[in-house]
Amino acid sequence: MEGAAERLSAQASGPLRGGLRPPGDKSISHRALIFGLLSVGVTQIEGLLEGEDVLNTAKACRALGARVERLGPGRWRVEGCGVGSLLAPSQTLDFGNSGTGMRLMMGVVGGHDLTARFDGDASLRKRPMRRILDPLELMGARTLSQAEGGRCPIELKGAAEPLPIEYRSPVASAQVKSAVLLAGLNSPGRTVVIEPEASRDHTEKMLRYFGADVAVEPFGAEGRKITLEGRPELRPKPIVVPGDPSSAAFALVAGLIAPGSEIVIEAMMMNPLRVGLLTTLLEMGADVEILDRREEGGEEVADLRVRASALHGVDVPAGRAPSMIDEYPVLTVAAAFARGTTRMRGLAELRVKESDRLEAVAAGLRACGLEPRIEGDDLIVEGRAGDVRGGGLVKTHLDHRIAMSFLVLGLAAREGVAIDDSRMIATSFPTFRGEMERLGARFS
Ligand code: S3P
Repeated sequence: MEGAAERLSAQASGPLRGGLRPPGDKSISHRALIFGLLSVGVTQIEGLLEGEDVLNTAKACRALGARVERLGPGRWRVEGCGVGSLLAPSQTLDFGNSGTGMRLMMGVVGGHDLTARFDGDASLRKRPMRRILDPLELMGARTLSQAEGGRCPIELKGAAEPLPIEYRSPVASAQVKSAVLLAGLNSPGRTVVIEPEASRDHTEKMLRYFGADVAVEPFGAEGRKITLEGRPELRPKPIVVPGDPSSAAFALVAGLIAPGSEIVIEAMMMNPLRVGLLTTLLEMGADVEILDRREEGGEEVADLRVRASALHGVDVPAGRAPSMIDEYPVLTVAAAFARGTTRMRGLAELRVKESDRLEAVAAGLRACGLEPRIEGDDLIVEGRAGDVRGGGLVKTHLDHRIAMSFLVLGLAAREGVAIDDSRMIATSFPTFRGEMERLGARFS
C-alpha cells in the first residue's frame, strides 16, 4: 500500500435501512482464477471480487502464463495453460496484503518445475509461511531463500514430479490444505490431507467441479480426510461467485446494533463451513430471518432480513472457530453491544492473520471504553447492553477487517469511532463505504 494513511470516522447513525448485496466471495474468487490458470481452455467468471487481494492473484496467474482479461464489472475470462505447463515468472510475485493468494500460489508453484519469488506488504511479511513450506518440502519442493522465521520474501523451487504424500496438518487451515492439494495436482500418485477440524471446502468443491477425483471422509470427531488422485485433466467450467459472508458480516452486525435498523442482505453464501457468525448471532438473540434459500453457482445462498436486536452474551466454543475465523473482530463488536459476557474460545489462529487480531481487537475495544480480557487463547468481552462510548482512535495495523469492524462499532457508539487508516478496506470490500452509506451509515 503506497502513500499516506487515510483516517476515517464513523458517526452514530440513524436507523440503517435498505438492501445490500455483498461483493463476491474472496476465497472463491482467488480459487476461480487459479483453477482458470490450471485448466486448459477458457474459464468464464461472473461476480469476481475486484478487491486488491484478488487482483494480485490475477497478476500472478498472468505471470505464470494465463491470459486473464476483465470483460466487465465482475466478469472475467481466464485462458489457462493447464497443470504441468506453467511458465516460470520473470518477476517477483507480489501478493500485497493477501495470505490466501500467496499460500495457494505457493502450492501451485510447489508442484511445478519452476522457481518463483514471493513477496508482499509489511503485514504479509510478518505472517508465517513454514506451515506451507513444510508440506511442500515433503513433496520435493525446495525453499531457496526465506526471511527469518520462514517469512517472505521467499524463493521457492517447485518439484518437477511432486511426491504423493499423506499430510496431517497441525492447524485447521484451508490455506494449508489447499496448498498441498494444489501441489498434489501434478503428482503422479494420491495426495492425502488430514485436517484436525473441517475448514472451508471451496478448493475440494472446485477440484471436483473441474473434473478431479476427490474423496472427502470424516476423520476423528471433527476432522476430515481429503484424498486427491493426481494428474487429473482439469476442464474449464463457468463460475458464478456467490456473495461473501465475511463481507456481509459488517452490514449484518451494523443492522443489529444501530437502533431501529431493518436491512436485507441479498444472496449471501450459506456454505455451512462459513456461517459460524450467523449461528453465534442467532444464539445471542439476533433477529435475523433467513429468506429464499436457493442455489447459485454450486453454493447455497439466502437473503437475510436483519432487525436491530437486544443481544445477550454467549460462550462461543473453540470448535466453531474455523467456520467464522475472519468474523471474530466484528463479533466482538456485537459482543460489546450485548448484555452480559461473551467468551470466545480457542482463538490462537487470530494471532497470525493480517494483524495479531487478538491484540488489535482488544486494544481497539479498550480505546472505545470497554475492558476486554485475553486469557490464554480466549477473548472475553463484557457487553454494555447497547450503550458503548466509542470515541477512540483505533489502530488498524494494515488489517481490513479491523478497520471495517471498528467503523461498524462507531455507527452505534455514543461518540463514534475513528480509525487510523482505511486504505486496506480495498483489499476485500472496495465498495464498503458507498454500500454502507446507502443504508444510512455516516462516515467522514
Ligand atoms: C482462507 C482461509 C482462512 C481465512 C482466509 C481465507 C481461504 O485462512 O482466514 O481469510 O480462502 O482459504 P486459514 O486457512 O489460514 O485459516
